[in-house]
Amino acid sequence: MKTILSIDTSCDETSVAITRGRRVLSNVIYSQILIHKKWGGVVPSLAKRAHEERIDMVIEEALKKYRQYIHIPEAEIWSAIDAVAVTQGPGLAIALEVGMRKAKELAAIYSKRLVPVNHLEGHIYSAYVQNRNGKPEGEYLFPCLAIVISGGHTEIVRMDKHLSYDVLGETIDDAAGEALDKAAKMLGLGYPGGPVIERLAREVGNRETHKFPRPMIGSGDLRFSFSGLKTSLYYYLKNGTGLSREQIREVASSFQEAVFDTILLKTRAAMRQTGISHLVVGGGVIANLYLRRRFRALAKEYGGSVQFPVFSYLTGDNAAMIGVAAGLKAERALYVENSDTFDRVPRLSLPKYHL
Ligand code: KG4
Ligand code: ZN
Repeated sequence: MKTILSIDTSCDETSVAITRGRRVLSNVIYSQILIHKKWGGVVPSLAKRAHEERIDMVIEEALKKYRQYIHIPEAEIWSAIDAVAVTQGPGLAIALEVGMRKAKELAAIYSKRLVPVNHLEGHIYSAYVQNRNGKPEGEYLFPCLAIVISGGHTEIVRMDKHLSYDVLGETIDDAAGEALDKAAKMLGLGYPGGPVIERLAREVGNRETHKFPRPMIGSGDLRFSFSGLKTSLYYYLKNGTGLSREQIREVASSFQEAVFDTILLKTRAAMRQTGISHLVVGGGVIANLYLRRRFRALAKEYGGSVQFPVFSYLTGDNAAMIGVAAGLKAERALYVENSDTFDRVPRLSLPKYHL
């Protein structure tokens, strides 16, 4: 089994992990949330600078933790690493570049093979990540539907085996997390929006007092669209006078319900279409416990199963999930052929391997 050092700088977390197979031996995440918070969203140029400032330190820290685990002298640490993995895309071009450059540099200095990883593959494999003790143990049950719900993506992907992806539907505009973030901004709740909205909705028992639309549920396909939902909130707020705290809670809860209902309706449609009842769900939004409950109920209804990332750091961006996806790739020798032409791809789609 290969030991891999992996790097993710796709958005606003600088993260480095050391993994062996499914096990995470060390994982460090430096979040830039405080830097971007006051701008109400991620500012690419600030993200790039923060990645550049932190990347070496985060690598050092990840190596140090790994060294403490395997008890090896500092000078020999790279002999205990087999390959370097990096997120190639999708993500912010200038942010991705920081990780890519560093990964290439390390691979060249220490003569390691490079493993390219798609950020979405990482989120898909976040529920596959184990701790040092090999927990949780469950395997993915194929065929399954992998659902990624994050700040940048909303996708339903069919998987018939490991690393085999068939995108059944994705968003044509905003992602689900982005919709929650924008709604929170309109309601004056700050950034990121998902966690605040989850809390406010819980405080009113996830009640739906205003019926926002369920975009594209009649489209007959599995595509999503969330930008209209945001517009309908805009008009709802514009027509009302100032909202009381209680009303803000109710609007937040109603909005969340519209977003989650749409995701669940499309997932249900995908399950019906494909006859697949095993689900794997990843991405920042699945930190939401109410959404987890809804997915569990759906899987149960179809006699299937649902797997989520079990450790809380795995829902957001992290290099551990990149490393675990890279581990599967390294087993199949899916390395970068030529590192000179290996470049970031900000709009990278899920790869189609013929394994
Ligand atoms: O996966 P992630 O960290 O970054 C991307 O790759 O996009 O996802 C971030 C998104 C944000 O939109 C954030 O509001 C949302 O995940 N999020 C949540 C929760 N925690 C984070 N959404 C709903 N409920 C939460 N508890
Ligand atoms: Zn992500």
